[in-house]
Amino acid sequence: MQTVIEHALVPGTFDPITFGHIDVVTRARRLFPRVTVAVAASIGKNGSGPTFSLEERVELAREALGDLDGVEVRPFRGLLVDFAREEGAGALVKGLRAMTDFEYELQQADLNYRLDSDLESIFVMSAPQYGYISSSVVRQIASFGGDVSTLVPANVVAALREHYK
Ligand code: PNS
Repeated sequence: MQTVIEHALVPGTFDPITFGHIDVVTRARRLFPRVTVAVAASIGKNGSGPTFSLEERVELAREALGDLDGVEVRPFRGLLVDFAREEGAGALVKGLRAMTDFEYELQQADLNYRLDSDLESIFVMSAPQYGYISSSVVRQIASFGGDVSTLVPANVVAALREHYK
């Protein structure tokens, strides 16, 4: 077991990355010297497939996080605990927005603990200004031609415009 954890993952679907995700990654980086944003190939929260391909989601996250020192973005397939082991990461960091996130995140943390009890699940509270941002809300607004520039970075605004044009 690692006593001091040097490397953490911030896992998610990132379909697409939002200012809320960027806030979580920035805060994870304050807690750990090395952070890997782990972009899952798999299905999203509501059971549907992602809107953007894995390659697009990784690219958008890389562009959005480009100048954050000690942060890299990597795709993964399969179980998160296996990816964490391959990467030598000792913790998972996720953001909690509201109570509605809690049940889902607790279930995932419980499952991940059963699969690998050495991997710590750590939660940071979303900054209030990002509390109601989610990738699905962003996609919905963008699909109706609404302005999402206060919710996602400029590269994602452009990608959404292209996708829903
Ligand atoms: O952004 P999300 O949708 O909350 O991210 C969920 C994610 C990708 C972290 C979760 O679905 C995941 O870990 N998927 C990989 C498959 C896995 O390990 N499942 C078992 C643990 S829940």
